[in-house]
Amino acid sequence: MNITLRQLTFFETVARLQNFSQAAHELHRTQPAVSMQIHQFEETIGLPLFDKIGRDIQLTEAGREMYRCTQAISQQLQDTEATLQALRGIKGGRLRIAVATTANQFAMRMLAAFSQDHPGTSFALDVTNRRTLIEHLTNNVMDIVIMGKPPESADLESTPFMDNPLVVVARPDHPLAGSDKPIPLARISEEEFVMRESASGTRQAMERFFKANELELKSGMEMTSNEAIKQAVQAGLGLAISSLHTLELELHSGRLVVLEVEGFPILRHWYLVNCRDRRLSPITQAFREFVLEESHDFQTSATSHHKPESG
Ligand code: PGA
Repeated sequence: MNITLRQLTFFETVARLQNFSQAAHELHRTQPAVSMQIHQFEETIGLPLFDKIGRDIQLTEAGREMYRCTQAISQQLQDTEATLQALRGIKGGRLRIAVATTANQFAMRMLAAFSQDHPGTSFALDVTNRRTLIEHLTNNVMDIVIMGKPPESADLESTPFMDNPLVVVARPDHPLAGSDKPIPLARISEEEFVMRESASGTRQAMERFFKANELELKSGMEMTSNEAIKQAVQAGLGLAISSLHTLELELHSGRLVVLEVEGFPILRHWYLVNCRDRRLSPITQAFREFVLEESHDFQTSATSHHKPESG
């Protein structure tokens, strides 16, 4: 087969986006130019790569096979690039990192400290919820991810590096604040909660916890941001269950208080996760080691206000 790298690149883009005009945009070419390359490619291999169904296109069986091949080639090129970087020595590089929304505050401090030690490093950062992080890992588009315990998978390498205690927070004048003995879980489940969206790891952990205790959570309000949740609790819209890692300022300033509730904190952990079969670039490797060695410096000082009793 007399295939050119350009044909493979054009094909990979069209196959990934399933759309000629979007592919043309990404490739900075006109749509007829992209169609022509694909046509020539099909002539070279003697089989159609796409089926046209109305305005949509779909990969044929030959197309799917060829797409697997282009993905393997681009993986190999990335791995080779990583090896070449290693041969040049670590002098910066680009780190593609995705971070759970809830880990945002300490992760930013980590990136800042790391880039001081590694001048020339640039970051492509996505701060998002658990479900999207899992998609990033499945699609192999990130070098490394910081998240709660990932699903069991032979394809993922995951290493815990820091505690993530979830606590019940209220505004300081809430009737349950300052209770001199632990509040029963059944009592707390009578309260209204402000919750994260269903794709959030924190939300899933709190639901699992209440289900395991055969109780239901009452919630009329759902928000995609930890900041919005804290504002809502301060405004008196209900209680929340949040990671101590998001509460540092509010607990220091006294705008929110942690309630002593039976069974709390829910003790989770933060994990570094990467795809097992991908060679880590030197900068990713260096970041991984930095996090594993230095994470104790990034524990939120809020944990000293409220030490987790379990685990
Ligand atoms: P979040 O946190 O999705 O609630 O931000 C991630 C996790 O705890 O897994």
